[in-house]
Amino acid sequence: MLMRIAAQAILAHTGLEEKEILSLFEVPPQPEWGDVAFPCFVLAKKFRKSPQHIALELAELVNHEEGLTASASGAYVNITLDRSVHIPLMLAELSKADFLRPNIGHGQRVVIDMSSPNIAKPFGIGHLRSTVIGAALYRILGETGYVPISVNHLGDWGTQFGKQIAAYKRWGNEEQLQHDPIGESLKLYVRFHQEAEHNPTLEDEGREWFRRLEHGDAEAQQLWEFFVEVSLGEFDRMYQRLNITFDHVLGESFYNDKMQAVVAQLRAKGLLEESDGALVVRLEDEELPPCLILKKDGTTIYPTRDLATAIYRHEVMKADRLLYVVGGEQKLHFQQVFAVLKHAGEAWAEQCEHVPFGLMRFAGKKMSTRRGKVVKLEEVLDEAIARAQAIITQKNPDLQEQQAVAEDVGIGAIIFGDLKNNRLNEVDFSLEEALTFEGETGPYVQYTHARIRSLLEKAHARVDVDNTNSSDNALVQDSHSRDLNDVSDGMLGDTGWALLKQLDRYHGQLIRAVRQLEPSVIARFALDTAQAFNRFYAKERIVDGGQWRIQLAEQTADILACALQLLGLKAPNRM
Ligand code: ARG
Repeated sequence: MLMRIAAQAILAHTGLEEKEILSLFEVPPQPEWGDVAFPCFVLAKKFRKSPQHIALELAELVNHEEGLTASASGAYVNITLDRSVHIPLMLAELSKADFLRPNIGHGQRVVIDMSSPNIAKPFGIGHLRSTVIGAALYRILGETGYVPISVNHLGDWGTQFGKQIAAYKRWGNEEQLQHDPIGESLKLYVRFHQEAEHNPTLEDEGREWFRRLEHGDAEAQQLWEFFVEVSLGEFDRMYQRLNITFDHVLGESFYNDKMQAVVAQLRAKGLLEESDGALVVRLEDEELPPCLILKKDGTTIYPTRDLATAIYRHEVMKADRLLYVVGGEQKLHFQQVFAVLKHAGEAWAEQCEHVPFGLMRFAGKKMSTRRGKVVKLEEVLDEAIARAQAIITQKNPDLQEQQAVAEDVGIGAIIFGDLKNNRLNEVDFSLEEALTFEGETGPYVQYTHARIRSLLEKAHARVDVDNTNSSDNALVQDSHSRDLNDVSDGMLGDTGWALLKQLDRYHGQLIRAVRQLEPSVIARFALDTAQAFNRFYAKERIVDGGQWRIQLAEQTADILACALQLLGLKAPNRM
């Protein structure tokens, strides 16, 4: 809102468009110079004067506007908003629906492919990132007028299931598999590959089981269903703890009966070519390697299944846009799939987008690695909660519902530790770092939020008891012990004004997060807001600091809670 107020004044005197003015605005290097700076270089040609000259004239004109002060500094016009005029307006704006939930999606349907782990394999860190980033995008889009539709595209089909079944038939044990589905499956899988090295009949057995599975053999089908079921049970436990639900859980196998139509469509378009007995679509014109459609033995593979999936999402789910939140290592795969769709005449291929992310490593000592490679996610979550619990017990031993808060904080630390990074960056994740209450962490934001809530509770209680026993009030004492550089007429001081300007950015940052499909914009915003609040709290009296400060604190807590919720973190009122 602040930017638009200033832009209106510039617009009136220059004839530039609001959009252009907003994009030119800068933040003055020193806050005391003003709230916004407008560079006049672009106007030099139009007015045939030097930018410095224009700045002087423009500052003079803006100065006459109600509620604004302006001065020229070189080629810049620095504009300051009159706080007594604008504080109430800006505070009121912060709770408006248009501000908090701008409708930029206009009901556009966005299908989000997210999480998508592989059955009978451990849920990997890449799947965790996909889940957390996908879920944040889902909420951010839902908040801005889109209709997001999430799909968990389980990896539940492929030749490896033949091997899995063969191994289970040879060495498996139902009880053990029930007890530790993923661990047991992995063991069987590893053993299969080890023994296959000197026993070539194993590979044939695996192939044979997959053939039977593809042809609907009852025993194969039953065993496969059992694997899917036990794996899903384990995944679901994790989704529950992360507070994730999906609109659709449709594995790759769901598209089995939709594959022939895709192959037929490609054939009809004359796109299929033979290569070493397999069928491919050549993509030289896109400077991409050929996309494999049918293997030598006639079975379909990953890209074919993604073609059928995309068509289904377009036709049946009525997707206007298709997002794939999948690690950057699958870049080529998606380029090929989208290119084949385009060649097949599906104009909506333009609306398909791979939303890649970088690798994440769990730094940290003996963090539950098994067989040297696999990090067991459930153990990571448990460890995060245990550590959160220990910190909370120490910080606030009297807290009720410690266990629930420890869950919120522990899980929140992991989610935030992921989302605060630009998604394309590689992340070296450290639990210890993610859990500090004073760093750029989820717990820091949650803690700031809880502190504001308790502050407000005390402020309201104080109003209720009508100031009688205010000397008992711990917070009032607390405020006396601070070095308050206060303006006592209830006006916001510089730190309060800076906080208000920070909250004012929420609307724009939300839109930016959508445009860039980047949850880190919101995480960054939450951190900056928490920091701005803590500076305000250190310098200005809140509890008995006048209505505007209370209102500002209230809006801060509300907006922090919104931001945390968008990212997938809980915002407990006490910590
Ligand atoms: N299951 C795949 C993997 O773990 C990810 C699937 C991504 N989604 C898709 N439509 N291809 O690598």
